[in-house]
Amino acid sequence: MTSTEETLSNLSKEDRRFEPPEELAADANVRAEAYDRAAQDREAFWAEAAERLHWDRTWDQVLDWSNPPFAKWFVGGTINAAYNCLDRHVENGLGDRVALHWIGEPEDDTRSVTYAELKDEVCQAANALTELGVQKGDRVAIYMPMILETVVAMLACARIGAPHTVVFGGFSSDALATRVVDCGVKVVITADGGYRRGAPSALKPAVDEARAKVKEQGGEVEKVLVVKRTGQDVDWDDDVDVWWNDTVGEASTEHACEFFDSEHPLYVMYTSGSTGKPKGILHTTGGYLVGAAFTHWEVFDLKPETDVYWCTADVGWVTGHSYLVYGPLANAATGVIYEGTPDTPEKGRWWKIVQDLKVSIFYTAPTAIRSFMKQGQEIPDRYDMSSLRVLGSVGEPINPEAYVWYRHVIGKDKTPVVDTWWQTETGSIMISPLPGVTAGKPGSAMNPLPGIGADVVTEEGESVPNGSGGYLVLTEPWPSMLRTIWGDDERFVDTYWSKYKEQGWYFAGDGAKKDEDGDLWVLGRVDDVMNVSGHRLSTTEIESALVSHPKVAEAAVVGAKDEDTGQAVCAFVILKDEAGDGGEDIVEELRKHVRKEIGPIATPRQIMIVPELPKTRSGKIMRRLLRDVAENREVGDVTTLADSSVMDLISDGMSSGK
Ligand code: WTA
Repeated sequence: MTSTEETLSNLSKEDRRFEPPEELAADANVRAEAYDRAAQDREAFWAEAAERLHWDRTWDQVLDWSNPPFAKWFVGGTINAAYNCLDRHVENGLGDRVALHWIGEPEDDTRSVTYAELKDEVCQAANALTELGVQKGDRVAIYMPMILETVVAMLACARIGAPHTVVFGGFSSDALATRVVDCGVKVVITADGGYRRGAPSALKPAVDEARAKVKEQGGEVEKVLVVKRTGQDVDWDDDVDVWWNDTVGEASTEHACEFFDSEHPLYVMYTSGSTGKPKGILHTTGGYLVGAAFTHWEVFDLKPETDVYWCTADVGWVTGHSYLVYGPLANAATGVIYEGTPDTPEKGRWWKIVQDLKVSIFYTAPTAIRSFMKQGQEIPDRYDMSSLRVLGSVGEPINPEAYVWYRHVIGKDKTPVVDTWWQTETGSIMISPLPGVTAGKPGSAMNPLPGIGADVVTEEGESVPNGSGGYLVLTEPWPSMLRTIWGDDERFVDTYWSKYKEQGWYFAGDGAKKDEDGDLWVLGRVDDVMNVSGHRLSTTEIESALVSHPKVAEAAVVGAKDEDTGQAVCAFVILKDEAGDGGEDIVEELRKHVRKEIGPIATPRQIMIVPELPKTRSGKIMRRLLRDVAENREVGDVTTLADSSVMDLISDGMSSGK
């Protein structure tokens, strides 16, 4: 049995059902009728969702799909994302509501900001950025820890119409440099460092290194704005580096914002694709904000007056963008942002935050849930988490056991779990149960949300019958869809729209199954993208990193099943002849090299030094066979291999411990 078949047959044994709690169902933001309403007139449905936001000028047309796959939503409308997230609420008398409770990793290092305070700080930052020469359309990179200034920086960029590109703080200087060059970034916003695992962790040195690398490639970062967070020593270039505290802190809190065209770029988020080069996913303002805000209110059943909402994602990922910043703030929610790791200073840190802040909606990733399961129920049981009423999951398939544990131990069997499927490209949640409507099944993302068209289809584009698997596609354009890949329209068309060109469907790159009731189970990527702890990594990107090491001749990387992280990076490496056996520490040396090139999340769990790699006659590496080896399975069909003895060589190498 292949691993997919195994998953399919295990899943079909899953027959637990969890009905929505009565109280929640009775008062739900979105009811079952929404599905019909949206199906009858999709555009009218989205227009109504858009009316929940403030438009300076209303749109003339909901959707322009005259040049597919290049969509325009709310055509002719003008909007400002920061105004919608802040000013509007202050004008509506909500200025004193807490926008974000920030919790630093060091205990007692906390700060809660109200909407009025956040608005003032964003105006200051907008003025400071303008002063530094940032104009509408200029790109700004944000490379920051999880602190309030990160949110301020994003909203300040949005306010002045300068698209931001947030680069995850765990990425290396190389990864940062690549993104800065690709996006043509003018200014970088960073911090001296942040706190992780009980100690300050530096960020500014990586920016200094990246700036030098950008220069080598003919680019130029004009200014680096640095937040003082840890107080650690930093190198300083007087011509370029500017302290945030000296500029933003001194700037005026008055800033009249401009309203931009609905299709004005809001941000670029880089994500891994099936080739080595990360893709800059472009989101524009109007449609994106409609998607993020509406789904946040809909899927979590947000009651902004009373809920305390916590999304644990890092702002460096799309989940942090849509469900920590733009969605919740546009909805005037009270959110939580936590700087550190879940187990610092002790294992119950997250649950203590839930207890202390009376968090009512909690959104996290299956990999985190699995690690808590491992630590044991005694830890969460020490805390009073009775405030919780909706739990969410995102980033990777949630295995039924983790779902049930989450619902039972964290939610005390009274909270629905919404398993939300979406991608950087989709901008907002596409497939998910509705907590007041859907009877949840552990492990299933259930149904496309109202207004979203999705299906599971065969290679040829036939909709599969219930009980079968295939490729996941989105069949209708949606407001928060990516508009293109930054600077590469062709790759945008090729990657997402060429497989089902005739039908005009978006190909998501995921495999999925429809169960007997027609509910959807997302199974995982069908391309060369891995999902490690909910983070997207490209096999080819890690292969390129390995090959850039002087001792490496060739490398193949696969994502192998892993109990904790969903998938883990496994690398097969052929050394150059002159490197001999590479030396005793070769594996560690290579692991370090990948960390340096990409970042710690890409570090291989396993590196195997092999004499050959299995290839087809046309020279394509057969990753499927390597996955069999990495997952300790019997090696599958080798008939298409150019040289079938290769697998024996690799397996021998494995058993001799290499
Ligand atoms: C996977 C994260 C199963 C999927 C929002 C997708 C999921 C990729 C789920 C996107 C889920 C995300 N069930 N798989 N609920 N959510 N995925 O761009 O493979 O970082 O294509 O966006 O994560 O990852 P990305």
